[in-house]
Amino acid sequence: MEHILICYATRYGSTVRIAAIIADELRDAGYQVTLSPVSDVGDPGGYDAVVIGSPLYMGKWLVEAREFVSRFRNALTSRPVAVFSAGFTLRERTKDHLSAVDEALSSSVNLFISPVSTGYFAGSLDPDRMSAADREIVRLSGAMPGDFREPGEIKAWARTLPVLFFG
Ligand SMILES: Cc1cc2nc3c(=O)[nH]c(=O)nc-3n(C[C@H](O)[C@H](O)[C@H](O)COP(=O)(O)O)c2cc1C
Repeated sequence: MEHILICYATRYGSTVRIAAIIADELRDAGYQVTLSPVSDVGDPGGYDAVVIGSPLYMGKWLVEAREFVSRFRNALTSRPVAVFSAGFTLRERTKDHLSAVDEALSSSVNLFISPVSTGYFAGSLDPDRMSAADREIVRLSGAMPGDFREPGEIKAWARTLPVLFFG
């Protein structure tokens, strides 16, 4: 049975649930799945395929997710990898919002790997859980707080992965 690693970065925890939904869907499809924060992954080279996800902060993936990709680029280029991003801008999947994410990925993550698929998911903004600095940034940006994660969209993306990974 193929073994898939689903790993993620998070600042306030909401990306964990996105990763867990992907993990459940792939488990239901019959794969062995390991779900882990990127910082706990010793070596992605032991898996048959890898999914890596990060929320966007100021237009970028979190540093630990970017460092994971750079550090393990050899293992990650010799097996199929899919990536996903979460953010408040992705509530509206306009061409501008999607291409902003694509640009951020092409100047970081995609310098090292060529994902077989890229997911874009609306995230969750809970000012009560944020640092004062982050709360201020959110306030100034005018972004609306709330949980905009859509399990249906996340599951639908997860279901496209096995054929992209394993043919
Ligand atoms: C300070 C700050 C900056 C953010 N910057 C962006 C951004 O540039 N683009 C975006 O789409 N979302 C942005 N977000 C929204 C987060 O990506 C979103 O809330 C995400 O779901 C948080 O994930 P986490 O709970 O796993 O950390 C920002 C949120 C905060 C608090």
